[in-house]
Amino acid sequence: MRTIIEPFRIKVVEPLRMTTREERAELIKRAGYNPFRLKAEHVLIDLLTDSGTGAMSTHQWAGIMEGDESYAGARSFYRFEAAVRGIFGHTHVIPTHQGRASERLLCRAVVKPGDVIPGNTHFDTTRANIEDAGAEARDLVIDEGRDPDVDHPFKGNIDLAALERCLAEAGRERVPFVLITVTNNSGGGQPVSMANLKGARAICDRFGVPLLLDAARFAENAYFIKLREPGYGDRTPREIAREMFGLSDGAMMSMKKDAFGNIGGVISINSDEWADSIRTRLILTEGFITYGGLAGRDLEALAVGIDEILDEEYLKYRIASTAYVGNNLAAAGVPLLKPIGGHAVYLNGRKFCAHLPDAKLPGWSLSVALYEHVGVRACEIGNVMFGTQDQKTGSWKWPALDLVRLAIPRRTYTQSHMDYVVEGIAELHQRRTEIRGLRFVHRPAVLPHFTATFEQV
Ligand code: F0G
Repeated sequence: MRTIIEPFRIKVVEPLRMTTREERAELIKRAGYNPFRLKAEHVLIDLLTDSGTGAMSTHQWAGIMEGDESYAGARSFYRFEAAVRGIFGHTHVIPTHQGRASERLLCRAVVKPGDVIPGNTHFDTTRANIEDAGAEARDLVIDEGRDPDVDHPFKGNIDLAALERCLAEAGRERVPFVLITVTNNSGGGQPVSMANLKGARAICDRFGVPLLLDAARFAENAYFIKLREPGYGDRTPREIAREMFGLSDGAMMSMKKDAFGNIGGVISINSDEWADSIRTRLILTEGFITYGGLAGRDLEALAVGIDEILDEEYLKYRIASTAYVGNNLAAAGVPLLKPIGGHAVYLNGRKFCAHLPDAKLPGWSLSVALYEHVGVRACEIGNVMFGTQDQKTGSWKWPALDLVRLAIPRRTYTQSHMDYVVEGIAELHQRRTEIRGLRFVHRPAVLPHFTATFEQV
């Protein structure tokens, strides 16, 4: 059989609310042309993020009922710890309420002002937490990873020569750790190869610097290795994931992605000293060390979810269903980032809206037009998220890529939902010159995309 089906059937459904184009035009205007400011009930198909938006399984819901809500030493924590350690393999497993809490705790514990944190491409909250600790987040993805038109099996790879130069220049004193994000979300959901992780490990060993993973989408990365890297075709996703983590000294994870969680995160680390320091801070801001800001029931759902995500039938469907969206859009002539990522398809905003200069925010304008046209919510990862303005001259520096991400929640939408999305985008592409540009009305200094407002130009 050629057809790859959803390896689950639907037991509970959540109705969608239809809106008209006129309603949506008014709603997005009232939201300051910022899709983050829309009410979710006004969105038909929500591809803003794949984070915390997945559907839980019957086993996860059963786990919810099993949750042990004891303040200290809950049974649910030990299940969680065993599930995470069984895959990650590090000494200490510290629960947190989500990925950015892990980032903040780790950065506050081990990053000093003036430090440099090299990585492939840091996610936006990771970058913000590193910068908040007074350090520099340095993106060293390979050149291919910066070019949306280049096809490469592992576009998330870190440039090993650049990493070596960075460590030689900054020195061990100023680099508390190297952080590799799998898959590379900001670079297009692109995987990192095992060979690249091994290369980074060898360099980190030479300089005596720990190597950490941002493991939000580790299972998708493992499956790409199975599909694309010679020698891994016969290995299970679990074996590959274990090998990936075995090359690291620790990991941070948003468990809202590849653990099928609606909430949750973890820090998994070998260093006793770092774990002590992180746990002290955890108690100050998140909660006791056996729940880290989560309910016992959340820990149960995550323990089940992190195991389920490595199911090969699921990962086969996941990667194939994302590629289905991308391939159909490409066939309709829509400019995309190539190759198709694991959790998302990325439209090339600059090419889609070639009539809009960078200052008119082509990717963001496309995301607004997409909502107006068919009620689909997507997220710009480009000029608004990463553009920076020179305080003295007022001139803008735009990022290398101005993308619009269609992030696909896990096990949530069916193929006909995706056919609708493809059709809507293909139609919009036909009429692309009608898409109006936008400019900032209000631009917050930190993480501007969440709350900025805009007006049409
Ligand atoms: N790291 C990566 C690679 C991420 O993609 C995210 C979140 C985080 C860390 C932070 O985790 O949201 O649990 O605090 N990404 C979401 C997204 C928000 O839409 O890509 P969090």
